[in-house]
Amino acid sequence: MDDSVQFFKVVHKDELTPGEGSLVFAGVKKLAVFLLDGEIFCIQNHCPHAGASLARGTVRGCIVSCPRHDWGFDFTDGSCKTNRRYSVKQYPVKVDDEGWVHVGVPESELL
Ligand code: FES
Repeated sequence: MDDSVQFFKVVHKDELTPGEGSLVFAGVKKLAVFLLDGEIFCIQNHCPHAGASLARGTVRGCIVSCPRHDWGFDFTDGSCKTNRRYSVKQYPVKVDDEGWVHVGVPESELL
């Protein structure tokens, strides 16, 4: 099924800090954005284990550890390092010429 992606301007890249997540809003969705070695990544904010905010997790390299039960998620590929049956959804990121970060959300998730 065709599911086109809608991009939202969510934050300026200068507001992102390496080693910290940022909570952003894309329409109705809360997402978590991370800066690593000049590259920006976006995953779902909602931890798939019990719903804590991954944007508030502790970051070491490409792993964000959930603030609630410390499960580790790789924000570069969405994998869970603690329980491999779980993963987090990734969202495409674009940075425009003025440094604004835009994240793409499938329209089916905006309903
Ligand atoms: S809520 Fe994230 S690991 Fe439990």
